[in-house]
This record gives sequence, C-alpha cells and structure tokens, in this order.
Amino acid sequence: MATNITWHPSLSREERSSFTKQKGLTLWFTGLSASGKSTIATALEQHLLHKGVTSYRLDGDNVRFGLNKDLGFSEKDRNENIRRIAEVSKLFADASVVSITSFISPYRKDRDSARELHDKDGIPFVEVYVDVPIEVAEARDPKGLYKKARAGLIPEFTGISAPYEAPEKAEIHLHADKFSVEEGVQLITDYLVEKGLVTLQ
Ligand code: ADX
Repeated sequence: MATNITWHPSLSREERSSFTKQKGLTLWFTGLSASGKSTIATALEQHLLHKGVTSYRLDGDNVRFGLNKDLGFSEKDRNENIRRIAEVSKLFADASVVSITSFISPYRKDRDSARELHDKDGIPFVEVYVDVPIEVAEARDPKGLYKKARAGLIPEFTGISAPYEAPEKAEIHLHADKFSVEEGVQLITDYLVEKGLVTLQ
C-alpha cells in the first residue's frame, strides 16, 4: 500500500475531448472462450478506426503475455486480472479513446466493479455479452482448449470446471451464433451512435 501520495489533477475530460473531438468510453466484452469476443472486438476496432474513431483493444490472451503475466486462472487471479484491466481501460477512456476489452471476465462481481469504477468518474461503460451456448464454443474450440480441459489437462477451465456467470444487465446482448461478425459490429456501432457515444466520419 502506498502512502504519502497526492492526486495531481490535469486537464478535465471535457477539455481533453474538445481537442480530440471524441469522447472516451469502455466497451466491455464478456463471454466464454471461443464465443467470438476477440474476433468481433477486432473487427469493431477496425471499423471504428476506418470511421475516424480512435479505438484500442485490450485482449485477454495478449495482456496475459505482458501486464498480467504473473496471473493464472484461479478465482483470485482472475479477480486481479479484471481489476487491472478495468483500471487500464478507464485510463484509455479518460484519454478519449474508445477502449474495447475482450476478457472472459466470468465473475459478475468483477464486471460490476469495473462498471462502478467507470460510473464513479462519469465514464461510459457498455457491457457486451457475447453469448453462445457452451456446446457451440466447445464445437468451435479453435485452440483445442476445451478438448484439453475435458481430458483434465487444464484445471479451472471456464464453462467446464470453473464458472461463467452470465450478465443480467448487459447493455448489448449479442447472440453471436445467430449473427455474422459484420452484423455484430453493425449492431454495436448502431448502439453507440444512437446513444451519442461516438460520431462517425
Ligand atoms: S479471465 O477469466 O481472467 O477473464 P482471460 O480472458 O484473461 O480470462 O483469458 C482467457 C484466455 O486464456 C482464453 O481465451 C484461453 O485462450 C486462455 N485460457 C487458458 N487457461 C484457461 C482457463 N483455465 N480458463 C479459461 N481460459 C483459459
């Protein structure tokens, strides 16, 4: 615990936005492994960039190579994984970026804490539930992880031997097995435009 530290105020978010001409927010993707979170998040990031909106994606697997390489998949480590990502995403959003996070984030409490962190500072937080039945995710199994988990080779695997607590109040509930990636991207973009959160060029 650090003591003797003082918060230094800088430009207000509004002042910053007036320069960057866009507002920051966090788009929080959650869903099972192989639900399509990263695929949709990547396509959305590209779409927004093409439309002149600065966006940046924080991805579960990638962040675990760096910032969170000291964390595993126990409940406690996942809590810490999500806590850090919520803080990092909030920083990006504070810098007027559309920050897209793509983590399983299986615990409702962790996602709610991420939301509260943003709410407390008036930064928009949009939860996107990338929903596919576990059977679909398991049939896709692009990395062969479900197979390994079923064989008992991966402990605490989400959906098999560790819980996934589905969102109850996600702003966007995407049935990802019923829509194409492009349709998913369009649906999310339409939501952002409709709510006045992004302005496309
Ligand atoms: S989270 O639960 O802490 O949010 P995160 O999204 O960072 O997870 O990482 C999930 C990715 O790690 C999965 O897409 C998969 O590739 C890999 N992975 C490795 N072990 C596990 C596990 N036990 N449970 C879930 N995913 C795992």
